[in-house]
Amino acid sequence: MYSQVLDNSSKEFKVFGKTSLKDRATAKGLMYGAAAVQDDLVSNKDLKTSFIRECNMLVPDYQLKWDKIRPTSKKFDFTKSDWLAQFAQSHNMLFRGHTLVWHQALPVWFQEVVNCKNAENFLLEHITTVTKHYRGRIHSWDVVNEAIEPDDGRTDSLRKSPWLEFLGVDYIELAFRTAAATDPKAMLVYNDYGLEYDNPKDEAKRTAILKLLERLKSRGTPIHGFGMQSHLMGHQTGLNAKKLRNFLADVASLGLKILITELDVIDQKLTSDPIVRDRIVAGIYEDYLNIVLDERAVIAVLTWGLSDKYTWVSNFFPRSDKSPVRPLPLDSNMKSKLAWNAIARAFDHAPKR
Ligand code: G3I
Repeated sequence: MYSQVLDNSSKEFKVFGKTSLKDRATAKGLMYGAAAVQDDLVSNKDLKTSFIRECNMLVPDYQLKWDKIRPTSKKFDFTKSDWLAQFAQSHNMLFRGHTLVWHQALPVWFQEVVNCKNAENFLLEHITTVTKHYRGRIHSWDVVNEAIEPDDGRTDSLRKSPWLEFLGVDYIELAFRTAAATDPKAMLVYNDYGLEYDNPKDEAKRTAILKLLERLKSRGTPIHGFGMQSHLMGHQTGLNAKKLRNFLADVASLGLKILITELDVIDQKLTSDPIVRDRIVAGIYEDYLNIVLDERAVIAVLTWGLSDKYTWVSNFFPRSDKSPVRPLPLDSNMKSKLAWNAIARAFDHAPKR
C-alpha cells in the first residue's frame, strides 16, 4: 500500500540557532513565504503568530481567484483579499497575487455568461480592475497559471482552456501586456506545475514551457518571472539534479527570475509512521531546495501553506489509512517539524544572491 521510499534514518536535519525561515532566507537575499487563507489567520492566533514569525511573503491560497472575488459578472468583492493584503503590509510581508488567468476556480456564472464574443472584454476588465486595485501593494502577479498541458495533444502543448478556445493562442501575451499596462511596477510571472521529476511527462512539460517563455520573450512580452509550483510527491523518486539545474538555467538565460511558488511534499503514499514519514518528507524538501537554490535566479520560496492543519493536501490527496497528512513545515499545533529544519538548512546552505 505504501511505497518503500528510502528513509535516511541516520539523518538528523540539525539546524543551528532559532533563526526564523524568513531571516535565514533574507541572509541569502531570498524571500520565504506561504499561502494563506483569511479565515484561518483570523480564527487561529497561533497560525497568525507563526506566519508573522516565519514569513516575509504572503500569497492568497484561493481568495484572489475569479470565483472568490467575482460573485457576479458585474461585481468585484475584494473583502478577504484586501484583509490579506493589509495583514501582509502590517507585518512587512511582500504580497503575491494569485492568479489573474486560470482555467480553474472560475465562478458559476462564467460558463453561462462568457463566450467568444465577450471573452476578451471580460479578460481585460478583470486584469485591469484587479491589478489597478492592488497597484503599489503587490510584489508579483501570477498573471497566467497552468496554461501548458501536453496531454491535450496540441503541437504547442497549450491547455485546451476556455481562454484558448475563446481568444486563441495570444491570450497569454494579451494578459501580460494588460497587466503591465495597468501596473508597470509589478513583477509579472507565468506559473505552472508538474516539472520537477525525471520522467517523460515532466520532461515534455519543461520543454513546452521553455518554448512558451522563449516565444513570449521573443515577442517582447512584459514577462519577468517564472513560477515553479513544486508540489512534490513524497513517494515519487527521480529528482534529477542535472536536468532540474539545466531547466532552471535555461529559464534564467531568458532574463527571467524564478520563484518556487507552491512548495509542499505530498505524503499520501508514505508510511503511516509519522516519525519516519516526517524524515522522508524533510529529506525531499532539503534535496529539492539544495538543487533549485543553486540557481541564483531563484529569488523566493513559498510553501503552499505553513501548517498541516490547513493544507489542500487533506482534501485533494487524503491518506488511505485516514491519518492526518503532514506535507508542510509546521504541524497542526504550529510546532516546527523536520520539514522546517530541512528548509532552514537549505537556506543556510544556499549561495548568497
Ligand atoms: O473551506 C472553505 C469553506 O469553509 C467555505 O465555505 C467555502 C466557500 O467557498 O470554501 C471552502 O474552501 C475551499 C478550499 O479549497 C478548501 O477546501 C475553496 O472554496 C476552494 O476554492 C479551495 O480550492 C483551492 C483550489 O486551488 C481552487 O482555488 C485550494 O484551496 C487551493 O489550495 C488550490 O490551489 C491550487 C493553486 O491555486 C494552483 N496550483 C495548484 C494548487 C492546488 O490545486
